[in-house]
Amino acid sequence: MDEIRNPFAPSAGSQPPELAGRDDLIRSAEIAIQRILRGKHDRSQILLGLRGTGKTVLLNKIENIALDNDHMTSFVEAPDDRNLAELLYPKIHQVLRKLSFVEDAKTKTHAALRSLRSFAGAFKITVGDVSISVDPQPGSADSGILEYDLIDLFFAVGEAAQSAGRAWTLLIDEVQYLSKPELSALIVAIHRMNQKGLPILFFGAGLPQIAALSGEAKSYAERLFLFPKIGALNDSAAAAAIRLPIEDEEESITNDAVADIIKVTEGYPYFLQEWGFQVWNIAQTSPFTRTDVKDASINALRRLDEGFFRVRYDRLTPKEREYVLAMAELGDGPYKSSDIADQLGESVNTLGPRRAKIIHKGMIYSPEHGDVDFTVPMFASYLRRNFLDKA
Ligand SMILES: Nc1ncnc2c1ncn2[C@@H]1O[C@H](COP(=O)(O)OP(=O)(O)OP(=O)(O)O)[C@@H](O)[C@H]1O
Ligand SMILES: [Mg+2]
Repeated sequence: MDEIRNPFAPSAGSQPPELAGRDDLIRSAEIAIQRILRGKHDRSQILLGLRGTGKTVLLNKIENIALDNDHMTSFVEAPDDRNLAELLYPKIHQVLRKLSFVEDAKTKTHAALRSLRSFAGAFKITVGDVSISVDPQPGSADSGILEYDLIDLFFAVGEAAQSAGRAWTLLIDEVQYLSKPELSALIVAIHRMNQKGLPILFFGAGLPQIAALSGEAKSYAERLFLFPKIGALNDSAAAAAIRLPIEDEEESITNDAVADIIKVTEGYPYFLQEWGFQVWNIAQTSPFTRTDVKDASINALRRLDEGFFRVRYDRLTPKEREYVLAMAELGDGPYKSSDIADQLGESVNTLGPRRAKIIHKGMIYSPEHGDVDFTVPMFASYLRRNFLDKA
């Protein structure tokens, strides 16, 4: 088919032509957004799922819903080399600048800017081009202890937003890169704002292993946050993800062909996009058939091997590669740490630091104590196919 009309979007964070199977989630986010704006209580959420399941796309969708509902939004991706305070500073500054134009919010916004200035001082944030021309507010957000200062700062921002009749939605992608104290501080602060009825909502997304929380943050998180699981699509959603974009372009695909795509992709969103994309390009006529799917699979796998899978493998050191190859050799996960150690002829303890580094890189995670698994769906078969000569 004409490549120019190809509707599929196999690329990280790209809006899919059909956002299939996520209606309930989107609805619950929408309700929370509308309730918070009206000063009612609702829960913040952290979406948890493996690589390529559609977390970023959902966060983007939620941001748009928030914008459509009079929220101001700040979307950040947690990097592994900067801290949360640095990340939030310019975003909050931007929100306050918007509020500073609202007559009814001028006083509170000014106070919030002063808190932000204190915060920047306390965390030695190099303000660069984002400087604030107000004096710091002594005693507010200036202790240098993130947990306390975030509460002060969010409180000031929440009051400013409230006096403008607006709300603020903070969205953070890749939350697994936040440190444990940062995530805890964030959860506690969001919870406090909720208790005070201030219009602040948080949506996070990350790999399932987000730092096991502790203490106060843990009990808040368990009771007061939602942790929806973002996984593979069920068969009917996966079928819709393939079929509807094709039909929107006034082409068609046979049921058998759709079933074959669901089977090879196991319903994982990224893989669905990749297969849809390749089938479209390869098919000469419509409806697309099983033969088209079979031919497209060769290209789809090659593209995934050279891109989606490869970039993750490339980030590992030779020693770390040994470790993941030992996992793949054991079959599909989850894997017991002791089995991997046996496979490598080493002890679990000596391997501990190596395992921790691979977890830190977001390549593997620990679904249960002592177990590990890949964060990338079908990664073990990628490794076998490319490095172990046994598919
Ligand atoms: N509900 C869906 N239906 C169909 N395709 C989807 C859906 N959600 C996401 N996709 C597609 O899947 C791919 C991955 O989406 P996205 O980048 O949001 O995943 P992710 O979970 O953020 O991955 P990562 O953990 O690697 O950041 C994109 O090509 C996107 O278009
Ligand atoms: Mg993402």
